[in-house]
Amino acid sequence: MTDRYCVFGNPVAHSKSPTIHARFAAITQQDMDYEKRLAPLDGFTASVHAFIAAGGRGANVTVPFKEQAFRLCSRLSQRAERAGAVNTLLFEGEEVLGDNTDGAGLVRDITHNLSFDLTGRRILLLGAGGAARGTLEPLLAAQPASLFVANRSADKAEALAAFFNSVITVNGGNFAKIAGKSFDLIINATSASLAGQTLPLPPGIFAAGSLAYDMMYGKGDTPFMQQARAQGAERCADGLGMLVEQAAEAFALWRKVRPETAAVLADLRTQINA
Ligand code: ATR
Repeated sequence: MTDRYCVFGNPVAHSKSPTIHARFAAITQQDMDYEKRLAPLDGFTASVHAFIAAGGRGANVTVPFKEQAFRLCSRLSQRAERAGAVNTLLFEGEEVLGDNTDGAGLVRDITHNLSFDLTGRRILLLGAGGAARGTLEPLLAAQPASLFVANRSADKAEALAAFFNSVITVNGGNFAKIAGKSFDLIINATSASLAGQTLPLPPGIFAAGSLAYDMMYGKGDTPFMQQARAQGAERCADGLGMLVEQAAEAFALWRKVRPETAAVLADLRTQINA
């Protein structure tokens, strides 16, 4: 029987996950089906249980259900635990296992697809919401020199930095706190561009050879990429690679086989720019 998977979201119509997973299944010759499931805003848990009852083997979870998914799981991976959010579910008997592949997807895109080594680098993470938090554990595992969390509300950045501060120094504060500092990798994990706003980034924060990475993506350069280029970032990337890599990580968890991502990413890029 064909194994069933899905993505839960609200809205979910825009999701590219079914296209990505169908390609992965074809590449790795897996007998599986992957669909979109619109969960009601007040009915996420019931939707998950209905899918399990219908034979579902696993699922992805997107906005706005990642925190609810975290609470629903009977077991969590360490990175999901630290992220406080779950984007990948695996159903095994009575157990609902939760993982978070977003951060690993980001790190894989940066280190593998963009060939940017994170070891010993100074990282600036912009934003302190759910998207930012999900990336911290995998970013720190890549052994950067330091990581600074900058956010519009300083208290959220400071709390997040304190939670993740470890062998690798993690500091946090508002955007004014990064004036006079420079970084090798600057990641935008804010949702500012959704509101059509740019970030108040002080001049001089992009070090020579730096990479500006926007977790958002779209046709052409995102507003953050345009801003970063204008302020001296040498290289810029959007989050399409992260989307594909987090999916590959989830697929590997479910199917125990890791799909090649390069062709899938290239085709998605062509579609988006068409
Ligand atoms: P997500 O799950 O996408 O991270 P979130 O948890 O609501 O969503 O977090 C949104 C992030 O974008 C926050 O860091 C938020 O800053 P605040 O904590 O100060 O609210 C940031 N953000 C949203 N709009 C912004 C704007 N116009 N300028 C700067 N930061 C913004």
